[in-house]
Amino acid sequence: MSEKVVVTGGAGFIGHVFIKHLIENTKFEIISIDRLDYSGNLNRISDMMQNYDADTQSRVKIIHHDLKAEINNLVQSQIGDVKHIFHIAASSHVDRAIEDPMTFVQDNVVATCNLLNYARQINDLETFVYFSTDEVFGPALGGVKFKEWDRYNSTNPYSASKAGGEELAIAFHNTYDVPVIITHCMNVFGERQHPEKFIPNTVWKALNNEKIIIHADSTKSSPGSRHYVHVDDVADAVLFIINNKEKLKEIPDDQYGAKCKKINIASSFEMNNLEVAESISKYLGLVIDYELVDFHSTRPGHDLRYALDDSLIASMGWKPSKSTQEGLEQVTKWYSENQEWLKF
Ligand SMILES: NC(=O)c1ccc[n+]([C@@H]2O[C@H](COP(=O)([O-])OP(=O)(O)OC[C@H]3O[C@@H](n4cnc5c(N)ncnc54)[C@H](O)[C@@H]3O)[C@@H](O)[C@H]2O)c1
Repeated sequence: MSEKVVVTGGAGFIGHVFIKHLIENTKFEIISIDRLDYSGNLNRISDMMQNYDADTQSRVKIIHHDLKAEINNLVQSQIGDVKHIFHIAASSHVDRAIEDPMTFVQDNVVATCNLLNYARQINDLETFVYFSTDEVFGPALGGVKFKEWDRYNSTNPYSASKAGGEELAIAFHNTYDVPVIITHCMNVFGERQHPEKFIPNTVWKALNNEKIIIHADSTKSSPGSRHYVHVDDVADAVLFIINNKEKLKEIPDDQYGAKCKKINIASSFEMNNLEVAESISKYLGLVIDYELVDFHSTRPGHDLRYALDDSLIASMGWKPSKSTQEGLEQVTKWYSENQEWLKF
């Protein structure tokens, strides 16, 4: 019998690509736990799996469960023995967090605690990956790149709730010996991302000749920027980390004596919002209409720049397989051929 792993948020953007990566690179049976909210979409999994044979498809089991509720005996019996848990589910849209912070506390802190409470009862659990974000560190101004154990500085309730879940995971590692690894990931892009996110939304607007709003600084001259990692590379990095636990153990404890391992998943490819929009217009062969807006002063809670230091994962021997430009070209083409994924 194959070993089992749990992927929370498997019907979401990153989760469904991670499931694909596990299908193609492991023999695991994969159990996805998802509540299927506005951003979770079972079509992602079925669309992604349509070309696999029936045996391969049977390796993926979907459990419909909202992690705000405890993982009760019934759900536990549906899951069975598990080797690794990848906790990817979260509410993740910053604007929604600013409108409704409590939902984010429920989904990202309470839900994480429910999953950790379940994890601490599993005798032979080898790994609990908590999938966190660069946003816990807040704005990376003046060219700074944050290292794994740098201080948090949440600018909005989304990042605070992710930092809260992260601290709980560390506490469960220290208190109950849950085998936690924290990953901080930069901005992810790829196929079947929710259409409200910047890249699919920009492709849609370019195709439909709508004005593209570019977030910029208060002078409206300097667009915000991000380091982008393609979702295939993110999935590869997470699997690389659990396959290289020995290398991870060799990393010295952080300077304050924390035992838990944190690792940044990042790329050196930084693009500003206008460069992203102009690249998309180039790949589509269309002229775009855009406007730089001072979003950050008028709507506090949004950060102009995020950046992570990726030297730790690089020292373990991992780097992204494609540049943002290569990935962006591929993804733009995919969205223009699969426009049903641009509508919401
Ligand atoms: N997208 C990015 O650029 C990025 C960058 C860094 C970190 N992250 C993190 O990656 C993870 C996934 O992000 P995504 O972009 O795939 O988001 P997504 O919104 O596409 O997917 C999230 C999934 O989690 C599920 N979910 C949310 N709350 C749940 C709950 N209470 N119980 C069960 N399922 C629940 C949703 O139904 C959805 O399927 C999140 O933890 C996010 O914080 C994302």
